[in-house]
Amino acid sequence: MSETSVADRLRELRQLIHDHDYRYYVLDDPRIEDAAYDVLYRELKALEAAHPELADANSPTRRVGGAVLDGFASRPHRLRMYSLDNAMSEAEWQDFLTRAANKLERDGVPFEAPTFWVDPKFDGLALEIIYENGVYAGALTRGDGVTGEDVTENVRTVRNVPLDLRPHAARTGLPVPALLEVRGEVVMTRQDFYELNEHQREQGGKIFANPRNAAAGSVRQLDSKISAARPLTFFTYGVGSQDWGASAGPGWTRHSEVMAGLAGLGLPVASQGKVVAADGVYPYFEAMGMGRQELPFEIDGVVVKVDSLALQTALDFTDRAPRFAIALKFPAHEGETVLRQIDVQVGRTGVLTPVAILEPVSLAGVTVARATLHNEDEIKAKDLRVGDTVVVRRAGDVIPEVVRVVEDKRLPNAEPFDFPHVCPSCHSPAVRGEGEAAWRCVNLACPAMLRRGISYFVSKSGLDIEGLGAKWVQALIDQGLVKTPADLFDLTEANLLPLERMAEKSAANFVAAVEAAKHAATLPRLIAALGIRQVGTRTARTLAEHFTDLDALGAATVEELTALPDIGPEVAGAIREFFDNAENRRLLERFREIGLWPVSVVKPVSPAAATPFTGKRFLFTGALPDMARDKAQTLVEGAGGKVVGSVSKKLDYLVAGADPGSKLAKAQALGVTVLSPEQFAAMLAELHVETRTRKSLLDP
Ligand code: IVH
Repeated sequence: MSETSVADRLRELRQLIHDHDYRYYVLDDPRIEDAAYDVLYRELKALEAAHPELADANSPTRRVGGAVLDGFASRPHRLRMYSLDNAMSEAEWQDFLTRAANKLERDGVPFEAPTFWVDPKFDGLALEIIYENGVYAGALTRGDGVTGEDVTENVRTVRNVPLDLRPHAARTGLPVPALLEVRGEVVMTRQDFYELNEHQREQGGKIFANPRNAAAGSVRQLDSKISAARPLTFFTYGVGSQDWGASAGPGWTRHSEVMAGLAGLGLPVASQGKVVAADGVYPYFEAMGMGRQELPFEIDGVVVKVDSLALQTALDFTDRAPRFAIALKFPAHEGETVLRQIDVQVGRTGVLTPVAILEPVSLAGVTVARATLHNEDEIKAKDLRVGDTVVVRRAGDVIPEVVRVVEDKRLPNAEPFDFPHVCPSCHSPAVRGEGEAAWRCVNLACPAMLRRGISYFVSKSGLDIEGLGAKWVQALIDQGLVKTPADLFDLTEANLLPLERMAEKSAANFVAAVEAAKHAATLPRLIAALGIRQVGTRTARTLAEHFTDLDALGAATVEELTALPDIGPEVAGAIREFFDNAENRRLLERFREIGLWPVSVVKPVSPAAATPFTGKRFLFTGALPDMARDKAQTLVEGAGGKVVGSVSKKLDYLVAGADPGSKLAKAQALGVTVLSPEQFAAMLAELHVETRTRKSLLDP
């Protein structure tokens, strides 16, 4: 393919994918099936691999992260990033209005019926994102407001940050700025935060106390691949430096116009922002306070800005904050209480998790009696001792946390906490692996692990057996009816009826639900349900795509496993460990006997496997009936083949379409295999089956 047609196709693909990302991540209105998106993405990857000279730092493929840094460079902000003054009550909001009115009056500027832009105060990390000529050119943290840290590589991976404003500008008729600094906050949604911590817990990794810490920690990763794997969301709230070059600029006179303009340039703007009169500000604040739990992200108040940019200029800044804006903050959900006890619980994967048992305390109307302590290091770092008075915080609907000890109130006899090195449930020795934060019980027969394991097996992440909640699982284990997940399938109504509060109808429903789940079980679900360490639903899907059944998976070597996308040595090790365990092998035999044995619906193919294209040289001549030439060439390259420019003895295949020209004669003379378009299509069709079974390249 000629260099220009490759360049054209690259441009086209990059823009198509940017556009689909925008629809998905910003507008929340996707217009393409995942599979079709994957095809585009794969074509782009293949084309970029074949043409490194046409690389683009802002290609959608670069959202996966890259090099590991030694540290972040610090860089000055062109315009200082100010902080905001806070108002903690309606009276303080009124004071703000009075101060503003007084200042304007002194300067002889009228302040009649002013309007305000109000939007949520996002609880995340402040960022400045820089666009040069409409193209993503870097990002800085707020830092001290004067200089920030250069987090360019990490912010590039945030999926809803546009990397190219130009197509958006073209669509909305806005000029492309020569320079535009966009300011906003990067957050983690509650759902993403919850899922990230679940994943970290499974892996014995760092647990984040709240979404804000998770977002900030993820942006400040020296390895941008780690940032890329973290689900971050950016919200724009304003602009810094701007230069509209030769154009007349967008002519913004109000902050609300700025926000509409930023949205028009493809930037994510939260839908809650709006313009209100002065008497609408406090009701907005109260309404947001009532509705904050329903928002997908955490906020700690609302921000109010004078809408008129002329008035903003007139009001100006104090040393630390603008006089035209203020943050109305929700009251902090913090309080003091006594740490009565530290309990240690055993999770499904055997992780020992410490929990603070507190003297019940009411925080913003919710009684808090327990708080997570994450792990041994956390207790040490905070030097928590039983009997201490501690500060407890409830951030949104996140699990309450112990913030710190009130040292003055420590009792003289308080002893540092000795983290148990045995399992609190089965008393067998616990282990703490090198580089892991968690102590873990490794006894497979541990009753606490059994309870969690069965609960997980029947949960939505596993076989999703309806109506089998934690209480029933506990009762079944207590009665000795269930010792492994396979025992669930042997339960009869007669077994169940003696259980307390089990009526005939529920017993029948119970048996029916288990039976239904057995028939509905798919291979990915069953693999996930096994609760193999580090193997969540996503990895289970990958495995199910590559192995026909549990036998095939159980026979896979570490090398075969690590050859799969996204499976590293640790995950592979955990999988081997699971299948090498005799008890687990017995469990799988039971599954087979009872008919719980789903098989893969796709043909298993290793991605490393050679295709008919691998290492082969192709040349095209004449027209292909069903396919553009460059598309065909990309597919060949994507499958490991090479496209060359001329006929030689080294050529493996000449694909000859209609009106082939002199190349055909030359190839025939040299004895090169000539393929008809139909034969070539047949080779591709074979390849298509294989590429389809591969995991999406989008998953980091
Ligand atoms: S406007 C001149 N709007 O709050 C300062 N800030 O407490 C203009 N923040 O560092 C800031 N949500 O990072 C603004 N909707 C919002 C915000 C917001 C969160 C952060 C911002 C700032 C901090 C000040």
